[in-house]
Amino acid sequence: MSASNTISIIGAGNVARGIATRALAAGYPVQLLVRNEEQGRTVAGELGGSVTVSAIGDDIAGTIVALAIPYSAVPEVVSEFGGLNGKTVIDATNPLNADFTGLAIKPGQSAAEEIQKIAPKASVVKAFNTVFAGNIVAGEKNGQPLDLLVAGDDASAKDAVVAFAEKSGFRVIDTGALAQAGTLEALAWLHMQLQFTRGTNFASAIQIVD
Ligand SMILES: NC(=O)c1ccc[n+]([C@@H]2O[C@H](COP(=O)([O-])OP(=O)(O)OC[C@H]3O[C@@H](n4cnc5c(N)ncnc54)[C@H](OP(=O)(O)O)[C@@H]3O)[C@@H](O)[C@H]2O)c1
Repeated sequence: MSASNTISIIGAGNVARGIATRALAAGYPVQLLVRNEEQGRTVAGELGGSVTVSAIGDDIAGTIVALAIPYSAVPEVVSEFGGLNGKTVIDATNPLNADFTGLAIKPGQSAAEEIQKIAPKASVVKAFNTVFAGNIVAGEKNGQPLDLLVAGDDASAKDAVVAFAEKSGFRVIDTGALAQAGTLEALAWLHMQLQFTRGTNFASAIQIVD
């Protein structure tokens, strides 16, 4: 695969491990962009396979770069990458407020649209925020492919994310324009709350049954 097929991921936490696991299983090289390179190298070693580690602000190898960091960290990180110009940016964030009692974004707005505003020369695609990290790592739920809800305005960027996700084993459900991202963030928040009422310990998955 050419270097542009690298899946670059900002962060090395639960979601980063999940996306990296699926990417590696599908044959994509992975680049982790992290603030603690020693920790990043530890994660890379645990992942195995073709994983490089770079610092925040270094060159991004992939055309696709996933934000797998807290939403609150995004403005500073986008700025350190000079705006992520020309990149297809997977926004996997859920904009939880500081005490995790709700969303920090007002109804009618979304993290993804706010990120698109601060990275106007990037193409933001909302994806991976509605799947819990453990399920992303596993790549399936009860033997079924995981549904991956995506939203975005730039058709070619969305196509690239869909192609990556499908090759990585997800059943992609295109929910439409980036304006749908707020709905996906609200859905993810609802799903988080249901973990406590249903006792599913962040193991359940959202599935659309046709
Ligand atoms: N966990 C889930 O099931 C899940 C599912 C879907 C979406 N999400 C969303 O995905 C994002 C990541 O969640 P996660 O569970 O992977 O979190 P996590 O395990 O806590 O990992 C967060 C990562 O972000 C890095 N980070 C934090 N602040 C940073 C900063 N200012 N600059 C650079 N890197 C920074 C952390 O680095 P350090 O280790 O150095 O702190 C860590 O690598 C969040 O927005 C979350 O809402 C989570």
